[in-house]
Order: sequence, then C-alpha cells, then structure tokens
Amino acid sequence: MASKVFKLEKSDPKVYKLIKGEETRQKNGMELIASENYVSEAVLEALGTVFTNKYSEGYPGKRYYGGQDFTDPLESLAIERAKKLFNCDHANVQPLSGAPANVAVYFSWLEPGDTVLGMDLTHGGHLTHGSPVTYMAKLFNFVRYKMKDVETGEIDYEELKKVAKKNKAKIILAGFSAYPRELDYAKFKEVADEVGAVAMADIAHIAGLIAAKILKNPFDFGFHVVTTTTHKTLRGPRGGLILSKGKVSNPLKSVEKNIENLPTLIDRSVFPGFQGGPHMNNIAAKTVAFGEALKPQFKVYARQVVKNAKAMAGELMKQGCKLVTNGTDNHLMVIDCVKSFGVNGREVEKILDLVGITTSKSTIPDDILPPYAPSGLRLGTPAMTTRGMKEKEIIQIARWIVEAVNNRENLRMIRRVKKSILEMSLQFPVPGISK
Ligand SMILES: Cc1ncc(COP(=O)(O)O)c(C=O)c1O
Repeated sequence: MASKVFKLEKSDPKVYKLIKGEETRQKNGMELIASENYVSEAVLEALGTVFTNKYSEGYPGKRYYGGQDFTDPLESLAIERAKKLFNCDHANVQPLSGAPANVAVYFSWLEPGDTVLGMDLTHGGHLTHGSPVTYMAKLFNFVRYKMKDVETGEIDYEELKKVAKKNKAKIILAGFSAYPRELDYAKFKEVADEVGAVAMADIAHIAGLIAAKILKNPFDFGFHVVTTTTHKTLRGPRGGLILSKGKVSNPLKSVEKNIENLPTLIDRSVFPGFQGGPHMNNIAAKTVAFGEALKPQFKVYARQVVKNAKAMAGELMKQGCKLVTNGTDNHLMVIDCVKSFGVNGREVEKILDLVGITTSKSTIPDDILPPYAPSGLRLGTPAMTTRGMKEKEIIQIARWIVEAVNNRENLRMIRRVKKSILEMSLQFPVPGISK
C-alpha cells in the first residue's frame, strides 16, 4: 500500500495531499458517527486492486463479457460467505450501496402505487424508507409506523397492524438508522402474514451485530428478505447486500412473481433491472470483510461494540443527558440536545467537531425542529471499538462530550478537551494508517 501512495505523491500531488489530510483527520480524532467504521488493511488492499478494471455484467457462470476466470469464483465466494453469515438461501452481493439495495427490492416486488409500511423518519427510519424527498416516494405509497412509547422504544404493533390492513401493504419494512432498541421481528412477521405482505428488514446499521449473533436475525423469524450496507457494523467496504429466502434459479430467465421466487426476482431487479456492471474490486473487498466477520474475533468485537454503547449511554445519562428511549440495546444512541444542553443537535455537532469528535445531528421522535438543525445528536461506538477502545475510554469520551458542550463559551476549556482527545486518539491507531 505504502509504495502505491508514494507513486501517487509524484503523479498527482493534489489528490495525494487530500488523502494524507484525511488520514491525519481520522488518526487524530474520534469517530462517533454511528454509521461509520474503519476497515482492515486487508479490505483496503482488496479494494485497490485490478478487479476495478473488469466488466462482469450478469452473474457467475452467466456473464455478458468474456474473461471471467477470476471474477466468477470471487463473486461465488462472496455469495457463499454472505449466506453463511446470515443463514439464508440467497445473496446478491452486487448492490452498489444501501440505497440501491432497497430500491432493487422495491422494484422486485411492487407495482407503482403499492404500499410499503416503514418506520417514521423522526422515530429512526431511513430516507430510503419513503422520505417524501426521494423519487421512490413519488412512485410508491409509503406509510409510517412509530414507537408507542418513546421512553422505552416499544413500537406500536397494534397501530402497525391496523395501518397495514387499511393500506393493503405489500411490504412491511422493519429497519432503522437512528433507533437504539431491538425490534420484535416476530410481531412484524405476524402482521406481514396477516396482510399477505413481504416481510423485509433493512439491517444496514446492525448487520455486524446480527452476523456475530449478538442481536436477533430476522430470518430466524421467517423474514423473506433482508437488505444491508456492508460498511457500518459489518466493517466492510462501502456497498450494499441483499439476502433472501426462497428458490434460487437462473437469473437470466424471467420467473413467476411469487414469494418463493423472491431470490430470482431480486437478482433480475439488481441486474438488468436497475444496475449495470458490478464493481468487482468492491466485491473482492466485501468478500474479505465477510471472511473476517466469520472469524471468532469478530464476535468479540461486536460484543464489545454493544458493551461500549451501553457504557457510553449510561455515562451520558449519569452526566444529566436525556437519551431517546433512555438507553440502547445496540451500537447507537440519540441525545435529546435541547433537553440536555439547551441547544440543537447541529450546534452540538459543531462544538464536538471543534474538539475532534465527529458525530451526526439527528431528529428525535416527532421533532418540532427541522432536519438540518434538529433536536438530537446520534452517537455510535463501532469505529472506536475497532480502534481497540473499551468501556474505560468510552466513559471518558462521554465525560469530555458533556464537558465540551457545557463549557462551549470557554475557549480554554475547549482547547483542554481537544488536547486530551488528541492524546487518547493517538494511542489507538486506525487500521491502515501509520502512527
Ligand atoms: C437503514 C439504512 N438503510 C439504507 C441506508 C443507505 O445506505 P447508503 O448510504 O450506502 O446508500 C442507510 C445509510 O445510512 C441506512 O442507515
């Protein structure tokens, strides 16, 4: 890797300088964005290989281009590893990211105007679950479900059932990007069965925790399809993945639209329906990441992610912060900044940027503030756990967060916290970045 970067320094010093700048930013600071992580050196190496040169439209053994001696076994290995990780019949490893993975599933099953039941955005759902600003929301009818009790995070399953029946939902979507609790997949599946809908889970955030068997797997509750990103808790390269149960048949031939044929409907939706050639360098990196996630050490990592999140949530609450649902069962938490600090999430994000802690503002349930300056701030522990931090360091970081925000007018205090953060960051190297 080092020699490649050295060549870049000569051939394109401008880009080289930006890469070096980003390396320093990552090394010197703390990454608490819940959707980010640091990939291993092996994943980085696979990403930067000659597989990027190759066109492979189609699927293993069924391509529209020649020269697939190494891409076919590579994609087959990725599929095998993904199926083993998530215990399902079929995996499509080609989605370019999480959003295209969701779109490909919608198009595999829905007709224009059909209803999808997704989690309300301010309660933790994702943009791709039907935000009015997305093109999908112009085509399909997205209807919302919410928490019944924002203090515990319990979903209103009765309301979910009522709304699913009323709107004749075709997909019941269980998934989130800012919800700190576990979903009751059995209840979602019960509703899906009652209305004859596909039970779909978007596990983009928690895929690594499910692969490590720390959190529940929707397939164990009869779910038909699961989408995910590969770059969050799963700790792979940026990308998407679609997993499903059912009969796997030739993806180049059309099949009847029924739940049994979902794997093939999805394959045909990804290609040729929605995407062109897969990014084989990215699939190589996904394959390496899946291999890493199958190893026992990954379970230890995933367990520590959750322990660290619980420790951080516990300390923040001890310091007087109000958290959405009063804690966490996964890797993330959402602080109600208005109640905790008297300022909105955008302000808190900015203050933390100043001291070297990267976070992301977030809405809180039924937020009255707008999404670009919402009431909350989302924090997560996957990245700092990869760097080797345990509860002791995480609790200290929680204290610095509160100290920095409460003393935001005091420049000397801000400088002192920034120095402490730099010192601790340098003790925990980022994989692939030299000290
Ligand atoms: C639940 C969920 N689904 C889908 C996505 C979209 O993934 P991507 O940004 O890779 O398109 C995200 C991203 O944050 C997510 O949290």
